Amino acid sequence: MQAISVQSAQGNYDIDVGDALLQSVGAVIAQKIPKARVAALVVDQAIEHTWAREVAASLQAAGLRVVMHVVHASEENKSIAQVEKIWRFLIAQRVQRSDVLCAMGGGIVGDMAAFAASTYMRGIATVMIPTTLLAMVDAAIGGKTAVNLPISSDALDASLSKNLSINLPTNLPTNSSPNLAKNMAGTICAPAWVVSDIRTLTTLSAREFRCGLAECVKHALLADESILSWLETHREGLRAMDPARLVELVHRSVSVKAAIVSRDEHEQGERAHLNLGHTFAHAIESLMHDQVHHGEAVSIGLVAMAAASQAAGWWPNADKFQISKRLDDLGLPVRMPASVDREKLKNAMKLDKKGQSGAIRLVLLKGLGRPGVLDAASEHVIDAGLDAIGA
Ligand SMILES: NC(=O)c1ccc[n+]([C@@H]2O[C@H](COP(=O)([O-])OP(=O)(O)OC[C@H]3O[C@@H](n4cnc5c(N)ncnc54)[C@H](O)[C@@H]3O)[C@@H](O)[C@H]2O)c1
Ligand SMILES: [Zn+2]
Repeated sequence: MQAISVQSAQGNYDIDVGDALLQSVGAVIAQKIPKARVAALVVDQAIEHTWAREVAASLQAAGLRVVMHVVHASEENKSIAQVEKIWRFLIAQRVQRSDVLCAMGGGIVGDMAAFAASTYMRGIATVMIPTTLLAMVDAAIGGKTAVNLPISSDALDASLSKNLSINLPTNLPTNSSPNLAKNMAGTICAPAWVVSDIRTLTTLSAREFRCGLAECVKHALLADESILSWLETHREGLRAMDPARLVELVHRSVSVKAAIVSRDEHEQGERAHLNLGHTFAHAIESLMHDQVHHGEAVSIGLVAMAAASQAAGWWPNADKFQISKRLDDLGLPVRMPASVDREKLKNAMKLDKKGQSGAIRLVLLKGLGRPGVLDAASEHVIDAGLDAIGA
């Protein structure tokens, strides 16, 4: 087991990464949160009958009363309506301020359950138990919690630079999947503990595993390029789900994010760099979340980011680095899977919460490990990014 510590103004916390850690979750929680009498497990439907059972047994063995709420993971379900269901469940189960909520699953359930925990009774202790590679290396770390908000299609058609407004969904079509403003409501609330048992990855689909690799590549580009060559060297070990290799990958990638959020918990500066490729990615997800998963959108977004970095004159020889080929070699998408209205995509980029006053804000690279923020990207820079991904 390898532990990493995160500094937080709300209390430092550990991230434990290892093989077969689930059976000791109860004992560790009893020691870290001794006042807790109830453990509310909010779990992803995909792991309800497998990994969640192990955790429930371990919590029970440690003397906690275990109550379980199951959530179906989808971006549409990452909603305030589902959070309300969690709140109601917590009240019905008489969960107290001193108790603990364990958020177990991928990033969708993790973000949403942690949001519910951070607001229920003004905040109860949260333990993150990520079960996807993406959640282990990224979503479960740093205390960001969120739900998506629906956007009316009018808001995407309108010129948002003139009129930046989100209409809440009185005029949403009821029979098609709504466009979503990603992570528009949320909190930053440090968990009490993060525990990543890489054994849970053995039931993950190959597609979801690759999604996690996209965030590992992001971390590599931001701060540790050796992760890229590591990924090439250990391709076979990863394919075979070699536990030692998985622990190493998660540990290396977590180390990058943990260091950044320790220095800048509330995104006053450096933490914004973790949004590398994400203004493009969130816009793609806003319009195509039923086809493109978050990690896939991040992969496409990183390709757009590299082209935009070059067009902005920040990274003149970005193309020589072949980010697109590297992602493709990992089995990740590097172009839009279907055609989409470019203006809608740009309007979705303007809605991304990182922009200000309708301008599009991009995190770009000046070279490997040299990120920076371009506050109001020009049409030329954005178009270069969109051209590179066939949008
Ligand atoms: N809070 C943050 O800082 C942060 C950072 C990055 C991403 N995110 C968010 O994370 C979300 C994406 O997370 P994700 O990629 O984990 O997607 P996800 O939560 O949709 O999980 C992917 C799929 O895998 C299933 N699953 C989960 N664990 C499994 C397991 N062990 N075995 C089999 N199936 C399993 C889920 O049910 C789902 O179908 C996005 O909503 C994104 O916005 C948040
Ligand atoms: Zn991401």
